[in-house]
Amino acid sequence: MSAPISTVPAGVRVRVPAKINLALCVGPPRADGFHPLATVYQAVSLFDEVQAGWEDPGVFAVSVSGEGADLVPTDDDNLAVRAARLLAERYGEGQPLGVSMAIHKSIPVAGGLAGGSSNGAAALLACADLWALDVSLEQMLALAGELGSDVPFALLGGTALGSGRGEQVAPVLGRGSYHWVLGFGWTGLSTPAVYRTHDQLRPDAPPPEVPDELMAALRAGDAQRLGRALVNDLQEPALRLQPQLRQTLETGIEYGALGAIVSGSGPTCAFLVKSEAAAIDLCVALTSDGVVRTARRTVGPVPGARLLS
Ligand code: C5P
Repeated sequence: MSAPISTVPAGVRVRVPAKINLALCVGPPRADGFHPLATVYQAVSLFDEVQAGWEDPGVFAVSVSGEGADLVPTDDDNLAVRAARLLAERYGEGQPLGVSMAIHKSIPVAGGLAGGSSNGAAALLACADLWALDVSLEQMLALAGELGSDVPFALLGGTALGSGRGEQVAPVLGRGSYHWVLGFGWTGLSTPAVYRTHDQLRPDAPPPEVPDELMAALRAGDAQRLGRALVNDLQEPALRLQPQLRQTLETGIEYGALGAIVSGSGPTCAFLVKSEAAAIDLCVALTSDGVVRTARRTVGPVPGARLLS
């Protein structure tokens, strides 16, 4: 006898990656307070998971487990909840929609890896599928841009150029796969505080531009060249706020990293290494030196938010 087919739609699961910025070039603040960016994002193999199931109409609930779960709000401030509400409002057309989401985190909170943004992107995709809404990728990218500067990239993944305030994304045709070690800091950094420090340090910041050399390194798939070309205008401000990160970066280079950089607004440090074996060695070195709370091996680029079931 075959099993009865449930009429209740099964829940959906979405896996979404962390991002690092290979270049993060920051201009002077705009009238709206945001900064114009010229950035190159890369999605790396450190994933959060968002599971979504039906709830009573008008209920938008979330629970959070895993890395840094106690730091994540579970009320209407949660980016996944905001994403679900926004989607229902714009594309739900008066339908009786509700959702209960469970986020499992591996991406550290306030780490400069777009962990919160990735949860917003995952929620958009999960809810659109759960509720069977007719939303195109372009429409979803536009909603993502309303939710936050890094949210569209979390949908796209791979390697991409970001402009505007980071929300306008276009894929980069690059070659190769890279080994990245991520060193997590002991405490998070506030992104607005890092941008404020940037403005104090560089009141005359020029319009942002991604260096040609970095794009050439990506086109060539040359990890040595890429390691030397990594650039982040938020690194100096992040180091002002957490001076110990300088030693973290130096330790990585001492142990043979091809490049070392603060990821986004920090405090996570990203180290480009030449092989998986080098990544294993560097993880051991960083953690045994105690310069990081923990270290993870990742590869990039990987795809953006994807449905698992
Ligand atoms: O867009 P998102 O909500 O991720 O941005 C978080 C904060 O980071 C903003 O409130 C702003 O202070 C700062 N930010 C900025 N310029 C950007 C992106 C973010 O000043 N391009």
